[in-house]
Amino acid sequence: MVKRIGVLTGGGDAPGLNPAIKWVVRGAQVPSLVEERGERYEVWGIRYGWKGLVAEEFRPGPPPEDWVVPLDMKRVRTWDRDGGTHLASSRTNPYDPENDLSGLLLRNIEALGLDALIAMGGDDTQQVAFRLHREGVPVVGVPKTIDKDLRGTDYTLGFWSAVEENHRIINNLRNPAGSHEFIYIVETMGRHAGHLALESGRAAGAVMMLIPEYDFDLDHVCRILMKRKEEGARYDIVVVAEGAKPRGRREITQDLSRDAFGHTRLGGIGDLLAQEITRRTGLETRSCRPGHIQRGPRPNFYDVIMGRHFGLAAVELVARRHFGRMVALREGTVTSTPLEDVVDGLNRVDVKTQYDVEWLRASNRVFSKDGRPLVRMW
Ligand code: F6P
Repeated sequence: MVKRIGVLTGGGDAPGLNPAIKWVVRGAQVPSLVEERGERYEVWGIRYGWKGLVAEEFRPGPPPEDWVVPLDMKRVRTWDRDGGTHLASSRTNPYDPENDLSGLLLRNIEALGLDALIAMGGDDTQQVAFRLHREGVPVVGVPKTIDKDLRGTDYTLGFWSAVEENHRIINNLRNPAGSHEFIYIVETMGRHAGHLALESGRAAGAVMMLIPEYDFDLDHVCRILMKRKEEGARYDIVVVAEGAKPRGRREITQDLSRDAFGHTRLGGIGDLLAQEITRRTGLETRSCRPGHIQRGPRPNFYDVIMGRHFGLAAVELVARRHFGRMVALREGTVTSTPLEDVVDGLNRVDVKTQYDVEWLRASNRVFSKDGRPLVRMW
């Protein structure tokens, strides 16, 4: 019997989504797997994340073409080479208290005749998936966010591609920084968690990484830079996550707006730091905010491979009727975690073991004092 799976991508796009969609389709339709489980799935891609399921009232029948696109192996063949998401995305929240569309969401899932729904996304998307699961909808999650702040998994699609892009950007900035003896501040994404800033800075040899988990003291930052200057450093690179803030201050936002999940648009801490460092030390300091360029690259080899594993695993969970779970990587193994645990907080940098509060950078410890490993690459 043919069953129908819906798949959507929610929140900010990320490299690795298109490979994951491709491998959902292949996992659903490749003859050897179909034969093995005795069940074939047609896959309907829902466009624009949750928005595609609440934009209008659906009637049973053919898929509404503005919002739903039937996917087959021919169509997705080359998708794993591409960044972003070919299904498009949005930050629509069907459970927004100011505009609750959850009734329409449930009716539309019913009208489309979906036997399962695969939701690819970060914390906000998985929160919605969990609520749907509690309402009895057969849902499976796939983790995605360049911030890597999602609980229940050691990896989220997009993270290493974004680190790789930041590594490239920072290394390019070394030329002007070195030629003109600037201090260069690079502001990375990372709203609640500093994983991206730490690994990008570590890869590119930044002198300092400032993260949301540890409020920094501006004088302390300046002291480190002055010491470096005295020791002969001609220039330096500082990486700051967009959610990092000086002690006693709030995050810097671009404007006063909030999205349907209540998030502000962060941005500007790099410029503020540059101004303050120049004012306090006289060192010529410039800043750069790569913004969406970090999320824009093609998936690197790791995100292609992980997209493949996660896509196949999501279909496997559907076939086994293991709903209400998110595909996950844990200790190097592809597995799954209950959505209930995924949405119970965020995965943030553990300052005690992963951060050096004296030098304001990623800890150089590989083992803890009792010999336990501290570095987690996934
Ligand atoms: O959630 C992922 C993320 O990249 C955050 O790091 C960042 O704060 C946000 O998305 C940016 O959102 P937008 O693309 O809507 O500006």
